[in-house]
Parts: sequence; structure tokens; C-alpha cells
Amino acid sequence: VTASGPRHFLSIADLSTNELVALVQAAQQAKHAVKAGKSTPSLVGKTVAMMFSKRSTRTRISTEGAVVHLGGHPMFLGKEDIQLGVNESLYDTSKVISSMTSCIVARVGAHDDIVGLAANSSVPVINALSDAYHPMQAVADILTITEAYGLQNLANLKVAWVGDVNNVLYDLALACAKLGINVSVATPTGYEFDPEILQVVRQCYDKPTSAAIQIVHKPEVAVKNADIIVTDTWVSMGQEAEKSKRLDDFAGFQVTDELAARGEAKADWKFMHCLPRKPEEVDDKVFYSPRSLVFQEAENRLYAAIATLEAFVVRKGRILT
Ligand code: CP
Ligand code: NVA
Repeated sequence: VTASGPRHFLSIADLSTNELVALVQAAQQAKHAVKAGKSTPSLVGKTVAMMFSKRSTRTRISTEGAVVHLGGHPMFLGKEDIQLGVNESLYDTSKVISSMTSCIVARVGAHDDIVGLAANSSVPVINALSDAYHPMQAVADILTITEAYGLQNLANLKVAWVGDVNNVLYDLALACAKLGINVSVATPTGYEFDPEILQVVRQCYDKPTSAAIQIVHKPEVAVKNADIIVTDTWVSMGQEAEKSKRLDDFAGFQVTDELAARGEAKADWKFMHCLPRKPEEVDDKVFYSPRSLVFQEAENRLYAAIATLEAFVVRKGRILT
């Protein structure tokens, strides 16, 4: 990001705590507006390019829906649609697409790809999932947590993540750290939290708080006193070749009532998952139970996308007004 270039949204790490809170509040307001049938035509006449190199249900639908809600035109560009990677470089693609649109929302493999895209784009680039981060998911997740507990009651909650270390976890952990929410992560040995990201997460617990992140290898330790238990697939997109090894390595990490009871999670613990869900990481009983917030969490992606586009495209990254 150059001093004069647009402000991009590649990770929750790009936001101050106040900006994160403002974005979540804006998402909440967008939810009320959508439910009331009110739209804000702030992107009329503007095009948002959606470069997706991987499958997507929620991110695609929420982003396309958000652009339409704001009166703009979403242009979906799957990897079979454009020249990128086959006949054209990332640099040239970034220059060309940004010269004709108002924003690029991109789903990529390596996080470096979105960094490269942003470095050469004349319009804001929003990360729609890279192998390292998933910021709009984290905004929706914090909105979901806020709806369950209240914005004033976030500090000192405990989020337990049980399963793989991945993109969704990293931005969720950053968001929780900024808000003073405790995070406890249990992964199998060999699936370790990225040490550089861990350092950033620790620095994000910036307010005077006793909240912290804890890294363990036993699921029952992570869920102790947890308010919310979160997981995600054990086989992220791009890791399909490792599937059978991963299913073996993650044995014992399935989220179940029995795990929560054994680990002494809070009696009224809630369950979250960004989706898509496979049955290995959480059983049906938990996934479809009243304690599961997963479909509310998925719907909240729409409001997170509206708030993100308003903040980064309409207001050009001036999130605090
Ligand atoms: N949670 C999420 O990003 O889902 P999709 O891959 O379906 O967009
Ligand atoms: N960790 C998953 C998230 C999908 C939304 C993946 O990267 O495939």
C-alpha cells in the first residue's frame, strides 16, 4: 500500500480496534436496513470485480448481493473466465481490472497473490479468502457473537477453536484479540499456529485486559469454560490431496456435546462454523442444535459485505466518521 494508493482490506490486522467495532456496528445497521427493505444507493454506476480462483457459496452470494443492495454492478470473474494465470500475469491483470472498476474483491490461493494484486491496483482490494486470512468472515462472526452477547459484553468472553489452523481462525483470532475476547486454540501436534501471526495476535490484545490467546493440543483443554466453540473444515480448499492423512491426524477433534461436557465448557455454550461444513469436524447433534449459530452466521456475511463495501469503496477506507 503506497501513501497515495487506495486503502485495501486484506486482513483484520489492517483495522484498528475502533475501526473493527465501527465496521461491525455498520454491519448491524445494514442488517436492520435490509430487513426494513431500505437500500442505500451509494454504488450506483460503479462496478465491483469479483475475481474468484476457488469455489464459493456464501462469499460470492453475499458480495454480489451487497453490491446490488448498494446499487452497483457486481462482475463475477471465475478462474475460467479471465486470462489470469494462463495468458496474463497478476501484475497486468491488476492494472487492467482496476483501471475499469471501483473495487476488486478477490479469492486467491497464496496470500502473496492478493498482496501483489493490491500493490498494483488503483482501486481498493478486498480479500474474499486467501490461504492466510478471511476478513469479511471475521466481521460476520463478530456481528454474530455481538448478537448473542451484546457489544458491551464481548471482553473476557472465551472462544475455543478446535480443529485445523487456517485462514478463518487467523482473522477470527485477530478480531477477538482486538476486542479483548479470550481465544483458546486446540490443534493436533504438527498443525501449529503460524508463529508470526501469533505474535501479531498477542500484540492486538492492546487494551488493559487479562484476556489472551492460549495454544494447546488437547480439545478438552481448549473448551474449558468456553462460551463459544468454533471449528472449520479439516481439509481446506487446496488441501484435498492430504485428505486421508488429515482425517487420521484430526481424530478426536470432532466437536460434540460429549467433548464440551468432558472439557467443562459453559453450560450454555454456542457453536459457530463459517461453513461449508463436513460431518467430520462437528456432529449433526451439535451442528443442528439450538446452540448452533451457523445459519445466522452465514446470513450475516451479507451485512458484513455491505459494511465492508461502504467502508472501503464508498468511504475510501475512512471507516471512522
Ligand atoms: N464461509 C465461506 O467463505 O463460504 P464460501 O466458501 O461458500 O464462500
Ligand atoms: N478454511 C476453508 C474456509 C472456506 C470458507 C478453506 O480455506 O477452504
